[in-house]
Amino acid sequence: MTNRRAVRELLNAVIPIAAVDVRGWVRTRRDAKEFSFIELNDGSCLKSLQCVVAADCAGFEAIRLATTGAAVRLEGDLVASTGKGQRWELKASSLEIIGTCPDDYPLQKKRHSDEFLRTIAHLRSRTNKYGAMARLRSRLAWKIHEFFQSRGFHYIHTPIITGADCEGAGDMFRVTTLPLEHVPQRDGKVDFDADFFGKEAHLTVSGQLAVETYCMGLGRVYTFGPTFRAENSNTSRHMAEFWMIEPEFAFADLADDMQLAEDMVKALLDFVCEECADDLDVFTNFVDPTLRARLDAVRRAQFARVSYTEAIAILAASGMAFEYAPTWGADLQSEHEHYLTEHHFGGPVFVHDWPRDIKAFYMRQNDDGRTVAAMDLLIPKVGELVGGSQREERLERLGERLGEMGLDAADYWWYLDTRRYGTAPHAGFGLGFERFLMFATGVTNIRDVIPFPRTPKHLEF
Ligand code: 4AD
Ligand code: MG
Repeated sequence: MTNRRAVRELLNAVIPIAAVDVRGWVRTRRDAKEFSFIELNDGSCLKSLQCVVAADCAGFEAIRLATTGAAVRLEGDLVASTGKGQRWELKASSLEIIGTCPDDYPLQKKRHSDEFLRTIAHLRSRTNKYGAMARLRSRLAWKIHEFFQSRGFHYIHTPIITGADCEGAGDMFRVTTLPLEHVPQRDGKVDFDADFFGKEAHLTVSGQLAVETYCMGLGRVYTFGPTFRAENSNTSRHMAEFWMIEPEFAFADLADDMQLAEDMVKALLDFVCEECADDLDVFTNFVDPTLRARLDAVRRAQFARVSYTEAIAILAASGMAFEYAPTWGADLQSEHEHYLTEHHFGGPVFVHDWPRDIKAFYMRQNDDGRTVAAMDLLIPKVGELVGGSQREERLERLGERLGEMGLDAADYWWYLDTRRYGTAPHAGFGLGFERFLMFATGVTNIRDVIPFPRTPKHLEF
C-alpha cells in the first residue's frame, strides 16, 4: 500500500509523516559527500520539496540520472529539516527514475527570457514563473465561477461556431469545410449552400448576443469561454484567441453594470492576494516590485466614473502632446487610456456614455440622441479591461439602429424576438481574462499569460 502525497500536502504538514510516496520532476540536484539533495517539484504548488538521498537509499546507484527535469519517484519519511530555508524535508528510503532528462533539456539554466520561453511554450510550465501563472489562471477561473454562482448567475455555454455576426463582420475567422483549392461557385459567388452548415459560419467574437437570449429566461446569466478575433493587431494586449467573461442581467441599468464590474474585479483581486500569495509573490519578486502595493491600492479604491464627454475635456485640457488629438466622436487611443487611468485618476476609471456612432447597434440609446449607455473600464498599465453596456430593450429603437448601421434585421430575427416577447431592461459586459491576468501579475505581454498564445503569424501547434 503506498502513501501517495503531493508536495503541497507535505509542505503544509503539521506533524512528521512516515513512509510517503512522492513523484515529480527534479528541479535541481546537489551532491555532497555522503548524500545528494534533490529539489522535487510536482506542480501542486510553487515550492519544491527538499529530498535527502543518502548512499543507503535503495536505488541510489541511479542518482546520476536524477538530473534537472527528470521524472522521479521517491519514498521515505517526511521529517523536520535541520537545514535553513525549509521546515520539512524528505529522508529518502528509495529512489526510482521514471523518466530521464538528457542534457539538451532547454531549461537547465535558472533564468530564461520571456522571449526565449515563448519559443518553447510546450515546456515553459516547468519554470517557476509559468507554473505560477498557470496555477493563478486556474484558481481565478474557479473564483470567477464562484463569484457569479454565489450571486445567482447561471453559467450558459454559448456556441463557439456562430451563424450570427455580433458586432459587424470583418474581424471574424471563417469556419468552412469547402475545399480551398476548388471553391464551389454559383452566379460568380461562393456557394455556401454547399458548405457544412449550408450558410456562412464563423468563430464567435463574443457570446453576448446568445447569452442575452438566456438572460430573458433565467434573469442572471454569464458565459466564460474562448473568443476569436481576426484583426491583424500585433500589440502586447491583443490576441486572436482569448477568454472572455460575459455576465448579462435583467432589470439592470448602466450604473448596476459598472457596479457589478467593480465588485467582480475587487473580488478577484482579494482572492489572488489572499489565497494565491505564493504564486503572486513570484511576480512581485521577479516582474514588478510595486505589484502588491498596486493591487492593494485598487482593492481599496472607489473606481472613478466619468462620462466620455468629460474624459475628452480632461484629455484636451491635459496639455499633453498626444499623437492623436482627443476629439469628441473618436475612439480613445491607448495613450488616452493611459493618461486617464494612470495620471489623471491614478486608478481604475469607468468611461461611460459613448458617442453612438462608434459603438455597437445593441447599446441603449440615450435621450440626447448622440450617445449610448456604454462603458469601458480602464485600469493602469493595461488600459481597457472591460467593455459593456445597457442594452437597447426597445424593439423599435433597436430595429431603427440595425437599419442605420446597414445590418439586415432578418439576420437578427431571433435576437429581436427577445425584445418582442417580454422585453426588459438589461445590461452586461465582457471582461478579458488575459487582460485581467496582466493586471494581476504585472506581466506586460499578453502572450505570457495564456499557455499557447495565438497571434498573427504565430501558431506553433
Ligand atoms: O470591448 P469588447 O469588444 O466587448 C464585447 O465583445 C462585448 N460583446 C462584451 C459584452 O458586453 N458582453 O471586448 C471585451 C473585453 C475587452 O475590454 C478586453 O478586455 C478583451 O475583451 N479583449 C481582448 N483581449 C485580448 N485580445 C483581444 N484581441 C481582445 N479584444 C477584446
Ligand atoms: Mg471594447
